[in-house]
Amino acid sequence: MADIYQAIKVSEHVYWVGAIDWAIRDFHGYATPHGSTYNAYLVMADKITLIDTVKTPFMDEMLARIASVVDPSKIDYIVSNHSEQDHSGCLLQVASLVRPEKIFASVMGVKTLGEILHENHSIQPVKDGEVLSLGNMDLKFMETRMIHWPDSMFSYLEKDGLLFSQDAFGMHLATFERFDDELAADMLEYEAATYYANIVLPFSGSVLKTLEKVAATGWAIKIIAPDHGPVWRKDLSFIINLYKKWALQKPAGKAVVVYATMWHSTEMMAKAIAESLAQEGIRVRLLNVDDAHRSEVLYEILEAGALIAGSPTLNNHMMPQMADVMTYMKGLKPANLVGAVFGSFGWSGESLKDLEAMLQAMKVEIVADTVSVRHVPGADVLQKCHELGKTVAVELKKRLS
Ligand code: FEO
Repeated sequence: MADIYQAIKVSEHVYWVGAIDWAIRDFHGYATPHGSTYNAYLVMADKITLIDTVKTPFMDEMLARIASVVDPSKIDYIVSNHSEQDHSGCLLQVASLVRPEKIFASVMGVKTLGEILHENHSIQPVKDGEVLSLGNMDLKFMETRMIHWPDSMFSYLEKDGLLFSQDAFGMHLATFERFDDELAADMLEYEAATYYANIVLPFSGSVLKTLEKVAATGWAIKIIAPDHGPVWRKDLSFIINLYKKWALQKPAGKAVVVYATMWHSTEMMAKAIAESLAQEGIRVRLLNVDDAHRSEVLYEILEAGALIAGSPTLNNHMMPQMADVMTYMKGLKPANLVGAVFGSFGWSGESLKDLEAMLQAMKVEIVADTVSVRHVPGADVLQKCHELGKTVAVELKKRLS
């Protein structure tokens, strides 16, 4: 195995020893059509240190990559920057094989690992700002609560200017390329944005605080090594500035019209609204939830300023596939959106009330009257849809800085 799986050198003292998951297509509800990686890193210090582990089925791959550098039994320390199972699931199995001198996690990490692994007495808590000597170099810890779990922390290897950032700055992308400069910038931006929209978005306030906290340390960071996707080494401002932009959630001149349809009536209305928005100079994404996965909808919302949602009524509610997308979206807390609601119905029309309530719960500012129709829209209703689109466009433009 060691001959098949090789470690990849990341910096003078650090190797990538993670695993590539070519097959994963769903990550707790987030579509991952391009797979993922679970990144673990080996620090070849006096005290040989493993930063994070991998999803359990990939443990042997990780151990083989470690073995291409050093006998895994030589590992002295393991640091768990994040307790989620894709990084900790095999932690105790690895520990039983490697028998490290010590295992470290944040204070919350020790608690969370205890709840996940049901054994944490061997794990030592480290505090925010604590420094761990690895003999000939130091590892510094920074709590990054809620990016994206309460236990999350960064570790910084000053000697190599390398920040181990766990999930932050990551992406779900399976490749043999391990570095940002080996991949196209537009692909990196798309995958990082999709990851941000589907994982990090609700914690944007914590992102802004953490970026300030890191800047205040004066750390001379040259490399950011996340737990998924490529290592950033080319131009760190590329991903840091994207994170600042996404975290600020400023309204943009883009509208997402997302809808479900039964007999194409709501679809006719959606198209009329989208045409109107486009005529007003707004960039529009028209998404039928039967075609667009919830992850794609969130990607499109990330840099939008308006959300217009439509659904027919089925059994006194919005269509179930629309409820799926809206529930997912509500949990990810997109901010600073204007919006409106539309849809067709046969008898009672509860889908409109469902959608209005959902937008209100998401703090979307409803700026146009709801347009609804019994059965099939005629020219008068389509004209109302056109006016709805125009109203949303006008209100959105007022909010653009
Ligand atoms: Fe990659 Fe939050 O786990």
